[in-house]
Amino acid sequence: MDRILVTGGAGFIGSNFVHHVVANTDAHVTVLDKLTYAATQESLDGLPADRVELVVGDIAEPEVVEPLVAGVDAVVHYAAESHNDNSLEDPGPFIRTNIVGSFTLLEAARKHDKRFHHVSTDEVYGDLELDDPKRFTEDTPYNPSSPYSASKAGSDHLVRAWVRSFGVRATISNCSNNYGPWQHIEKFIPRQITEVIDGRRPRVYGDGLNVRDWIHTEDHSSAVLAILERGQIGETYLIGADGEKNNLEVVQAILRHFGRSADDIEFVRDRAGHDRRYAIESGKLRHQLDWQPQYQDFDAGLQATIDWYVANEAWWRPHKDAVEASYAAKGQ
Ligand code: NAD
Ligand code: DAU
Repeated sequence: MDRILVTGGAGFIGSNFVHHVVANTDAHVTVLDKLTYAATQESLDGLPADRVELVVGDIAEPEVVEPLVAGVDAVVHYAAESHNDNSLEDPGPFIRTNIVGSFTLLEAARKHDKRFHHVSTDEVYGDLELDDPKRFTEDTPYNPSSPYSASKAGSDHLVRAWVRSFGVRATISNCSNNYGPWQHIEKFIPRQITEVIDGRRPRVYGDGLNVRDWIHTEDHSSAVLAILERGQIGETYLIGADGEKNNLEVVQAILRHFGRSADDIEFVRDRAGHDRRYAIESGKLRHQLDWQPQYQDFDAGLQATIDWYVANEAWWRPHKDAVEASYAAKGQ
């Protein structure tokens, strides 16, 4: 593949993928990104200008999307509204970007017969009980809880239909919770790191026992590239790194890092419809595509992420007050 279009390539995970592609292939990357509040253009700084170009535009606009898709060999689709809490306040942008945007890209991929990889989430499967020995597999029935996860489930179904009905050469990946540098401070880990930097207490929803299956964003990128290069058309691959932790364990690790007491936590109003537990069985990806995560020590990865937020305060500081004001208005 000589030319790849990466939608959402100025976001947290998409920008990591762009760096990963530049470091590990010879491909030219065109990033298509609307530069919403969640984007950080500087996350693409330092990349060679002859390998990466940024086009600012909306994936839901066919006149923007079509010529770009026509000019590449493959589309890797990350662009989305990605935050559950925002989807509970205002679902409209989630429907437009995640469903209409994905539809618009699929139509262009169909018209120009392009390879398409759709980046999705484990949240499409709903949640598991804390004591359930099962984990999500590629055969788990869809059961999304929030407007965000329902919109991602909708986009997955569109991809499956475009494969079956129109022969679009697509694959899907459903990944668990990512952490690492450049994640917006509205999300759990960066919010708590920056709260503690500011001398405040981490804000934990409900009883804090909800479990997420953490994976470093670099491992997500290597998995997506493996699927793009070696995945079987029409197949879904779950991406995970065996990183189950409950939210209390994560904030306690952050508190420890800063020498704060492990019970220095503020319990706040729970998220409506809050999924209890996510857990990924990623054997298909590991066995069929020979993929392995590299960041299996969550504590070490978290320490490095904390260090990154300490060192990059100039990036997140301008957004901190607005993010906290918005949470405070909801009692969170
Ligand atoms: P993010 O919110 O950090 O970035 C999303 C990017 O998409 C931003 O750069 C934004 O400007 C862009 N965008 C939004 N609407 C757009 C539009 N209409 N047109 C063009 N660009 C648009 O999100 P993220 O956390 O990096 O997630 C990226 C993808 O990975 C999403 O599809 C998400 O569902 C999926 N995913 C995320 C996680 C996670 O833990 N964050 C886990 C599994 C899957
Ligand atoms: O599982 C993959 C999904 O992971 C992705 O599809 C989403 O794009 C991504 O945002 C993430 O969704 P979550 O809702 O799991 O992530 P979030 O960072 O919002 O919350 C993680 C957990 O922490 C969840 O149980 C809610 C809780 N939480 C969150 C915030 C922001 C808190 O307890 N306090 C907080 O302040």
